[in-house]
Amino acid sequence: MKVWILGSGGQMGRAMIDACQVLKIPFVASKRCDLDITDLEQVKRMGSSGGFTHMINCAAFTDVDGAEEKSKEAYGVNALGPENLGIVGRECGISVVHISTDYLFNGEKRSPYLEGDRPAPLNVYGKSKWEGEERLLSELSTACIVRTSWVFGNNGKNFISSALSLLRKEEHVQAADDQINRATYNRDLAHALLDLSFHSGIFHFANHTPLSRYAILQDFFEEAKERGLPLRCQKITPVLADSFPTRSPRPSYSVLSTEKIERVLGRKPRLWKTVLAEYFDYVQPNH
Ligand SMILES: NC(=O)c1ccc[n+]([C@@H]2O[C@H](COP(=O)([O-])OP(=O)(O)OC[C@H]3O[C@@H](n4cnc5c(N)ncnc54)[C@H](OP(=O)(O)O)[C@@H]3O)[C@@H](O)[C@H]2O)c1
Repeated sequence: MKVWILGSGGQMGRAMIDACQVLKIPFVASKRCDLDITDLEQVKRMGSSGGFTHMINCAAFTDVDGAEEKSKEAYGVNALGPENLGIVGRECGISVVHISTDYLFNGEKRSPYLEGDRPAPLNVYGKSKWEGEERLLSELSTACIVRTSWVFGNNGKNFISSALSLLRKEEHVQAADDQINRATYNRDLAHALLDLSFHSGIFHFANHTPLSRYAILQDFFEEAKERGLPLRCQKITPVLADSFPTRSPRPSYSVLSTEKIERVLGRKPRLWKTVLAEYFDYVQPNH
């Protein structure tokens, strides 16, 4: 096995590097400045000369609000990019593992989304990611697509790192209590991607326990206080998501069902409280 990690400068890319190092899997990592996934010739050149068995695509246009204005760029990275990987995967005999998103769904279902549920994205980001799935599969029907939600961990900016800076700065913090989802620890997702790398099809992965943003923040706050992190925040108040207007609409409920991946891998994703504790042990040990 030799893995090519694309988009290795982002939070998932760096978690993939860590996972390959821990498992002693040979890999090559390319950041955006090394290789642009929208450039088919570049992808072909590297794909045909690297001796890779797998491409793991962590590259994406992930600015959900920014995608509304920069839709051409979003579709380039999120739709054309995966298509290019599918072409090169087919031509060079390389398996492709691609990360997708819960924002494919509109949230109207109100029970966990299955892999076979029809996407109905509310925003440009979700639409471009859906198109990416379709274009990848039309080039390489054996590709593996893993949809995930609310990714956090070390390595980069995410909703937890933003929450931590708020808790450090503000005495009173508000968080939406009507947006429900499953958070995903980037280390667990990275290992799931490697475990799925010899499988084909669409899978959902997220850590256990659907929670509102408010409940997540409250758990995070309690754990941080217990561990003695210096925080300014005294109180978190639950509010409606409407209190934080965003340029692009987001589903209020996009909980992914992980029944399929649990059956295939023979294990359940770890609980939110377990990965939260690990986050503090490994990511914030020195506050
Ligand atoms: N974060 C979440 O909560 C979340 C939730 C659901 C799904 N996902 C999915 O998870 C995957 C990984 O996201 P992430 O959280 O790791 O995002 P991230 O931290 O924003 O990383 C994305 C990386 O892709 C790179 N990139 C952008 N355009 C590129 C191009 N044309 N060619 C090569 N690389 C390019 C970016 O480089 P620059 O920084 O230089 O632009 C960045 O390093 C994405 O597919 C995303 O859609 C994320």
